[in-house]
Order: sequence, then C-alpha cells, then structure tokens
Amino acid sequence: MLLITGPSGNVGYELVARLATAPPATGWRVASRRPADLDRRLGDSGAQAVRLDFFDRATWPSALAGVQTLFLLFPLPGNKAARTAIIPFVEAAQEAGCQHVVYVSVFGADRARFIPHHHVESALRSSTMASTVLRCSFFMQNLHRLISTHGVDIAENHELFIPAGNGRTTFIDARDAADVAATVLRDPGSHRDTVYHLTGPAALTMTEVAEVLSAGLGYRVRYSNPSLVRFASRLRRRGVGWDSIGFMSAVYTLTRLGGNQQITDEVAQLLGRPPRALAEFVEDSAWRWRDRAWT
Ligand SMILES: NC(=O)c1ccc[n+]([C@@H]2O[C@H](COP(=O)([O-])OP(=O)(O)OC[C@H]3O[C@@H](n4cnc5c(N)ncnc54)[C@H](OP(=O)(O)O)[C@@H]3O)[C@@H](O)[C@H]2O)c1
Repeated sequence: MLLITGPSGNVGYELVARLATAPPATGWRVASRRPADLDRRLGDSGAQAVRLDFFDRATWPSALAGVQTLFLLFPLPGNKAARTAIIPFVEAAQEAGCQHVVYVSVFGADRARFIPHHHVESALRSSTMASTVLRCSFFMQNLHRLISTHGVDIAENHELFIPAGNGRTTFIDARDAADVAATVLRDPGSHRDTVYHLTGPAALTMTEVAEVLSAGLGYRVRYSNPSLVRFASRLRRRGVGWDSIGFMSAVYTLTRLGGNQQITDEVAQLLGRPPRALAEFVEDSAWRWRDRAWT
C-alpha cells in the first residue's frame, strides 16, 4: 500500500493527478483533512481517500494501516509542528510497518537547524525505514499562491514584492517535483537512502523574474525589493501569521545573501528531459493571475 499525503498542495496535487492517470501497481491511498474533496479527482483509479490530520492522532491508524511506502511532506512552517506532529507521524509509520518514505524537503535542510525539515530528515535517518529525500528549490507556484501573497501583489499592484535584493533563486516548477516523486514512487527500491537536489534550469534574480512575468502576463511587473520591515508589515496587515512571515523572511534573507544559486541536473537525470523554465510556467498559469485563482 502506498500512502500520499498533502494532495491539495503544490506537489501533492500534481502527483495525485499523475497517479490517477497511470495508477501504481500496488494499492494506493490518499490522505487529506477533507477526503470527500478527493472523490472526483481519484475517479476510478482504484485509490482510497482517507481522513488524515497530522495534529489529530486518532486519524493516523486508518491512514497508515498496511502502508509500505509513504509520500510525506511538511505542510506547515515551524519547528514545533515537526516535534509535535510530523516526527511522531514518521515514528507511527515505522510502527505500522512502513518500509520507505519519500519526503519533500528544502535546500539547506542538512545544515540549517532553524528549518523544520532538518529535524524530520534526521528522524528519517534514525529510523529503520529507507528514505528518498527530494530537496526542492523554491516552487514557481509560490508566485501565485495566496499564502505567500505574491499572487495578490502581482495581479493587483503589478509588483513583485519580495525582499530578496539581487540574490538568485533556482525556481523549480512543482510539476517537475511531482514528476520526480511519481518516478521514485513507481520504483522506490532504486532510490533507497538517496537525497536528490531538484532545481529549475536557471538561477534568476527577482528583476529577471519580473521580466519573465511581464512578458507572460502582458503588463509590466516591477520588482520593488522591499525592506524586511515593509515586507512583514504588509503581510501582517493581510493576516499572514508570524510563523509564515518569519519563515519567508529567513528564506529571502538567505537568497539575498547568495545562498540559493546552485543549479543541479538531477531533474534531467531522473526524468530524461530538462526541467520546465519559468517562462513556460508563467504561460501555462497566466489565467491564475487573471482570474485570481490562487490555489
Ligand atoms: N513552497 C516552496 O517553495 C517549497 C520549496 C521547497 C520545498 N517545499 C516543501 O515541499 C513540500 C510540499 O509543499 P507544498 O507547497 O506542495 O505544500 P502545500 O501547498 O503547503 O500543501 C500543504 C498540503 O498539506 C496538507 N495539510 C495541511 N495541513 C495538514 C494537516 N494538519 N494534516 C494533514 N495534512 C495537512 C494539505 O492537504 P489537505 O488540505 O488536503 O488536508 C495540503 O495538501 C513541503 O514539505 C514544503 O516544505 C516547499
């Protein structure tokens, strides 16, 4: 049995679409806080939808029953969630007989202890389960997701409101991360105890990102490069939690300091084709900024 978590997220949504089109040879189950929302997407793919809330342990046993392979992500900012929910969930998976975890992580998780993924990766290494860690660079999809508010700024103010200075980001399309996850999940044994570093094809400054957005959206998007204080106060006025603001501020500060520039060829190695470019993502997603369809 294969268990997929986070099916409405950037990666999970695309991964479920791929598995529903070409179901795995094993049984598979998809876990969500709102499993009824999955019925239409799962169709007759043979998948079960099950309720799972990482913060409600009563939902864990039915989600984990018989699971041998687990696709896991970390859905929330903050080390507290790692300690109180995700790491105990990893331990529960091991107790339930799971043998392999495919985990979506971030660049720098091996070094930076303030990143919750650092602690989850460490728990995976200490477990008896095999693991495949997909350390992804920044998702292109963040440019239209409501949680980050970048979508609102781009669509309403024609402004890329990100405090990243002239730092470069190796944006990856979450569709490529999902393609890699699907490849690994179809043959986990070939990817045991491996860490992959997944990036897009280019390291872009935010000025360059604004140029790509301008070309694809048909209006000029300006990179305003706010201070951290301006960034935090605008997000706070919009009701974004301090956890998320703190996490984004740390990530963008790392970017400004040049911590994000490494490009890898691992997407191409794993998929046999180059990763999608930002221009392709903007072209495919232009309707989201136009229609304010943020998720
Ligand atoms: N955003 C980035 O740029 C970036 C870059 C590199 C790596 N990552 C990592 O990539 C992974 C995937 O990120 P993502 O952006 O695809 O995720 P996401 O869009 O934030 O999706 C979160 C998912 O988690 C589920 N979820 C939220 N709270 C939950 C809870 N209490 N219990 C159970 N499920 C819950 C939601 O499913 P339901 O609503 O259906 O329950 C949703 O599908 C994460 O580990 C993230 O840290 C992100």
